[in-house]
Amino acid sequence: MSFLGVFGHVVLDYILQVPRLPAPGTSIQVTARKRHFGGTGGNLARAAARLEVKTALASFVGEDFPPEYREALEGDGVDIADLRTVAGYATPTAWVFSDPEDRQVAVIDQGPMDAAAEFALPRHTVETSDWIHLGTGTPDYLRNIQSVARKLGKRVAFDPAQEIHYRYNADSFRGLLEGTDLFFGNREEIGVALDYLGLHSEREMLAWVETLVETRGGEGSVIYNRERAWRIPSIPPRAKVDVTGAGDAYRAGFYAGLQRGLELPQCGLLGASVASFSMETEGPQEGLPRWREANERGTSFEDRVTEA
Ligand SMILES: Nc1ncnc2c1ncn2[C@@H]1O[C@H](COP(=O)(O)OP(=O)(O)OP(=O)(O)O)[C@@H](O)[C@H]1O
Ligand SMILES: [Mg+2]
Repeated sequence: MSFLGVFGHVVLDYILQVPRLPAPGTSIQVTARKRHFGGTGGNLARAAARLEVKTALASFVGEDFPPEYREALEGDGVDIADLRTVAGYATPTAWVFSDPEDRQVAVIDQGPMDAAAEFALPRHTVETSDWIHLGTGTPDYLRNIQSVARKLGKRVAFDPAQEIHYRYNADSFRGLLEGTDLFFGNREEIGVALDYLGLHSEREMLAWVETLVETRGGEGSVIYNRERAWRIPSIPPRAKVDVTGAGDAYRAGFYAGLQRGLELPQCGLLGASVASFSMETEGPQEGLPRWREANERGTSFEDRVTEA
């Protein structure tokens, strides 16, 4: 049995340094290249498992999926029975070109993920998890997962991330939000959510969901439920090396708190703490803390939580 069932992308991220971003019809030499294990689903599942959250991951990859990624997930204790290899597809891959000024251009191959609704539904993860985390993926696919989850009486979190901007419209967004208990987003994402709902403030979203978590980068996060709201500080990393994956790391810490039955502000502090660790190392799945250190760093900021 798992506490957390994660639905989202598992991606190979290639970071390619170039002297300048290429213009159409030109070619350019790569000065440095790195490959990272990524994808919101993979990032969250690994970060959560390292915090002793019992975690399952459901996703679709291609025949070229590196065994080392599978081993890394398994090594951290993620249940990957529903990490499916789909014949005829390549693994979701992102090529990120970055110039010396840190301007970036990304090229993404979704691999099998855009066709996820056509494959057999990953029932194992739905059936064996208490919380169903609906992250990135097509709205149709996520709706199918959600409807099974609701029939089984599961708790549902919805976290469309940047895909809220281009995969959703008001109808598909409302359809998913209807069956949601907990919603995650950053400020821009929640702005889009409010537009889809015709609402003007975060608090009005509580007519739809019980709990709302809004992350605000270096300004921390705000957690709302129907009775109260809390401002959670961000926690400075010892060195800020790489902010990618901070959002996923935050969610992992949040769930680690939920699994231990902690109150929402403590869950938020754990999120801020795990995000802070993740920023100290390059790559979204490197530098992830264990429970004890995450909890220590989080609780040391307890007196900085305020009512919102
Ligand atoms: N510069 C920062 N300094 C300290 N903490 C940060 C910083 N940026 C982000 N965080 C922490 O990470 C959490 C999530 O960050 P953010 O709001 O940027 O998520 P996001 O926009 O979804 O990011 P991404 O999708 O790129 O991971 C914040 O609530 C905060 O706790
Ligand atoms: Mg994000």
